[in-house]
Amino acid sequence: MAKIKILCVGDVVGNAGCRYLEGGRLRRCASSLGADLVIVNGENSASGNGMSRESASSLLASGADVVTGGNHTFKRREIYDMLDDESSLLRPANYPGSVPGNGYTVAECMGYRILVINLLGCVYMESLASPFETAERILREMKGKYDISVIDIHAEATSEKMCLARYLDGRVSAVFGTHTHVQTSDAQVLPAGTGYITDLGMTGSMNGILGVKTENIIHKFTVKTPIFFEAAEGNVSAHGAVFTVDTDTGLCINAESVIF
Ligand SMILES: [Fe+2]
Ligand SMILES: [Fe+2]
Repeated sequence: MAKIKILCVGDVVGNAGCRYLEGGRLRRCASSLGADLVIVNGENSASGNGMSRESASSLLASGADVVTGGNHTFKRREIYDMLDDESSLLRPANYPGSVPGNGYTVAECMGYRILVINLLGCVYMESLASPFETAERILREMKGKYDISVIDIHAEATSEKMCLARYLDGRVSAVFGTHTHVQTSDAQVLPAGTGYITDLGMTGSMNGILGVKTENIIHKFTVKTPIFFEAAEGNVSAHGAVFTVDTDTGLCINAESVIF
C-alpha cells in the first residue's frame, strides 16, 4: 500500500512566523515527519496582518507546496496580482467569482494529483456562499481530475468546521480547520475515512495572544479603539497536523497533531 503524508501548518503570523520557517526549518521538519506535501495557511503572514508578496514568497521559498488563505487574504492589494498569477497561492473558494485568485488547486506529489480546496466559514464571519455547497461544486467539477483531496476550512465556529468534515466524511482525504490560532486536541480519522482536526493552531510567538502583542489585544478589548496589531516576539513554534493517506483509496489512515 502506497502512502502519502501531508503536513498542514497553521496560520503563520508576521515576520516571526515567516522567519521561523525560513532557513530550511520547514523542509527539515517536514522531512523528519516523513511529509511528502506541505500546506501552510498564510493569511496573517505579513506584519500587521494579511498577506504581502514578500510573506507569500517567503512561505513558498521555505517549502510550502500550497499556501492557503482566509478572512485576511484580501487585506493588502499588493497580493491581488500574485493571487491571480501563482496557482499554489489560494484564497477561500466561496468568495464571489469576481475577486482575484483561485479557491483551489491541484498539486502534483509522487505522481498523484492532490486537490487542495480553501473555504471560509460563514458563522461569525463574512457571509459568503455556503462552504458546503462550494465544496460540493468543486468536487463535482474536479471529478476524475484528482487522486487525493484536502480542505482548509478557515472558520470561527468549531461546530461549522466539524460539521463540514462529517458532511464530507469518506468523500475527501482530509479536512483541517484554521483561523482560531489555538491547536485543538481532536486530530482523528472520521468513521468513513476522512482525516480531521478542528484547528491546526498557529506558527508564531507564543508570548502574546494568538501571535499578537498582548498589550495590543488588551487595548482592543478594554479601550476598544482601533490599534495596529504588532506581532509578538520570542518563544516561536509551529503548530499543525500530519495526515497519512492511502493512495489506493484516497482516504486517511492516520491523523496526528504536531508542534515543531
Ligand atoms: Fe489567522
Ligand atoms: Fe483568519
